Amino acid sequence: MTTVSAVDRWHPSPYVISKAARVIQSGGLVAFPTETVYGLGADALNEEAVKKIYIAKGRPSDNPLIVHVNSIFMFKALAEVNSVALELARKFWPGPLTLVLPADDIIPPTTRGGLATVAIRMPDNPVALDLIGYSGTPIAAPSANLSGRPSPTDADTVHHDMDGRIDMILDGGSTELGIESTVIDVSDPSRVLLLRPGGLAAELIEDVIGMKLEVPDDVSKKKSPGTHYRHYAPKVPVKIWKKGEPFPSGAVAFMGLNDPKGNALDEPIKYVRKIIFTSTANYAHGLFAAFRKFENENISSIVVQWPDDITGVGAGLRDRILRAAGIEQ
Ligand code: TXA
Ligand code: MG
Repeated sequence: MTTVSAVDRWHPSPYVISKAARVIQSGGLVAFPTETVYGLGADALNEEAVKKIYIAKGRPSDNPLIVHVNSIFMFKALAEVNSVALELARKFWPGPLTLVLPADDIIPPTTRGGLATVAIRMPDNPVALDLIGYSGTPIAAPSANLSGRPSPTDADTVHHDMDGRIDMILDGGSTELGIESTVIDVSDPSRVLLLRPGGLAAELIEDVIGMKLEVPDDVSKKKSPGTHYRHYAPKVPVKIWKKGEPFPSGAVAFMGLNDPKGNALDEPIKYVRKIIFTSTANYAHGLFAAFRKFENENISSIVVQWPDDITGVGAGLRDRILRAAGIEQ
């Protein structure tokens, strides 16, 4: 049985959070909101508990998890923290930035997918931060979806994927960003690698470190197995449309920033459903939810617009769109 408990995002009830913390402390699984997407949490230091995450998600065991902390003090206890990593954490935490660093031995191999490094972030959500604090331990949490599916941005979607597989869901409403954190490898501070674009713009990170982020070569890519293609995918085929180009044939639903009518080369356009977002940020916020919505409406193919703007969350949005369409990068 999976219990669902409503909780106020800004003023989480100590009663509800302490119940959830007891589940974490006894080795159980609790899904909780962050500012990006919902996470599926277990005590990061309890190997048996962490194994349950992989089973609940159907996640390959070599795909490491993000460890969530609520203080710089906790961060320092879990990894070999260099000065660049510390500066980034101080500047952007709590927030959608995940730092990969050499792991302390205290982190069980299962949590880091057998790697020597660990991914850590401090989520910007009072429910998540209180859960970590009350549990008194860092919480390992991937996105709370079945492996390969679009990440959940509300508790109903978590329930849809995870009912009967986990102990508890904290329902703190829908998440603000809707797209996962930016993951960077800071193990070597002279060469910072962008492993996954996401909620925090690369430009902002570059401003702080005073150099460009490097895009990893194939070897380092293999070190971050979760960044393989065919992730975040809805069950129905996804095609990409660029403004000013012919509209893909056979489309039933559309989502994007511009109405294809008048903006695509070939008319008429035959889709029956459309969602037009008002900004790139709104598009990123609504992408996963829109995939799930169209799926629930039994739509047989989805066309998504390629975003022109790659500043801000635009780069992360492009990345998720390519993966949803099954295009290897
Ligand atoms: O916003 C987010 O990051 C959400 C919320 C819940 O915090 N979490 C999330 O987790 O998206 P997940 O497991 O879906 O994605 C974690 C990503 C994967 O691409 C994984 O391969 C990478 O981080 N990762 C984790 N540990 C790593 C490590 N030690 N080295 C390289 N990549 C790592
Ligand atoms: Mg995920």
